[in-house]
Amino acid sequence: MQDLKFPSSFQWGVATSSYQIEGAVNEGGRAPSIWDTFSHQPGKVDNNDTGDVACDHYHRWQSDLDLIKSLGVDAYRFSIAWPRVQPAGSGAWNPAGLAFYDRLTDGLLERGITPHVTLYHWDLPQALQDKGGWASRDTAKRFADYAQTMAERLGDRAASFSTHNEPWVTAVLGNQTGLFAPGLKDPVIARRVAHHLLLSHGLSLQAIRAAGVKAALGIVLNQSPATPATSSAEDVALAAREYALLVRWFAEPLLLGRYPTAPDLPVCEAIEPGDLETIAQPLDFLGINYYTRIWSSTSNPPVPAPHAQGTSDMGWENYPEGLTELLCGLKRDYPLPPVFITENGMAHRDVLVDGKVDDQPRIEYMRTHLSALKAAIDAGVDIRGFFYWSLMDNFEWSSGYAKRFGLVHVDYQTQVRTPKESAHWYRRFIEQQRRA
Ligand code: FCB
Repeated sequence: MQDLKFPSSFQWGVATSSYQIEGAVNEGGRAPSIWDTFSHQPGKVDNNDTGDVACDHYHRWQSDLDLIKSLGVDAYRFSIAWPRVQPAGSGAWNPAGLAFYDRLTDGLLERGITPHVTLYHWDLPQALQDKGGWASRDTAKRFADYAQTMAERLGDRAASFSTHNEPWVTAVLGNQTGLFAPGLKDPVIARRVAHHLLLSHGLSLQAIRAAGVKAALGIVLNQSPATPATSSAEDVALAAREYALLVRWFAEPLLLGRYPTAPDLPVCEAIEPGDLETIAQPLDFLGINYYTRIWSSTSNPPVPAPHAQGTSDMGWENYPEGLTELLCGLKRDYPLPPVFITENGMAHRDVLVDGKVDDQPRIEYMRTHLSALKAAIDAGVDIRGFFYWSLMDNFEWSSGYAKRFGLVHVDYQTQVRTPKESAHWYRRFIEQQRRA
């Protein structure tokens, strides 16, 4: 890694999200989110795990901030639980919830770590879901109020605000396949949801800027390139379609102010005049979460992806070149704002032996993905930072606690945190970057 020199202003960080780590779901005036409801329905999450306790971060936030500091990172990306600060999703604010995020933000600054805030990482107040959730246009307006309030509250201390984390996941996994909360299986609802998420993003940026907040504003998208399994016309067409459904569906309205006209891309009846102008607010940055590529095969049975560089415990192919491919493709196709890699990481079946977790495959994943990222910088893509997902093992949505993504191992019985070998590797890597 000696030869891998990133720009000196490059920010190194780690990321988490509220429902995945906080626990304390009934404390400090927090109301239920859609993930509380969903995870408590038997069979929705592996092992019927829930986020009730998670990493108990709500109580352990100070030592967790010390842990972040010990990694030597510059920055921390966390999310705000909307039902903790505004329990009903409209109306009254909860002082205890607001105070928690104030303390967290101040605690980061005291330790010299830059706070990056995500406003929506999937924990919608259940009260809003009961009124239609993101399928209702009104939720977009409620979100803009919430976003403005939080940005006014923390905007003097946070470096950035991302409106949404992975709107594709909210729309498709939450409302079309039903694998994630709220667990609906309705493609018509899913595309209304997608449109309202984008609309809520645009309305929020307008409101936050009108309020005079100076922090950088953006959104986080999950993206992957799509590789046709063979050179057949069918596989090539499938790859184009899958790329459109994941990447272009969200990137085009945000960056070009129009929905793509790709074949089969769902047109949404919820679009009203002026919506696309609202959605396409100038972005100060674009956050990209990258884990793997899409492998597009029309054969029966499908041609399997090669998995030549290994597979994560999620079953996802390790394909670092996909990160370079994706970023260079985005630069070619769009007027790109500065980019942050807001998530990248690997689930591994980690075991704690004699106080040590020797997660060499994760180190290899990080090494190869950072070199793929550097290749994109060398090709001219303006990339400003990298956040490893995740700081610590946590509630991995419908996979529960079985899938471990952390640099830090969490023993869920005792809540003891143990930095893995990858955490030590990352700290040394960042130190080297500073020295080089
Ligand atoms: C992303 C999510 C994040 C985490 C990783 C593994 O889709 O944003 O919360 O679950 O995947």
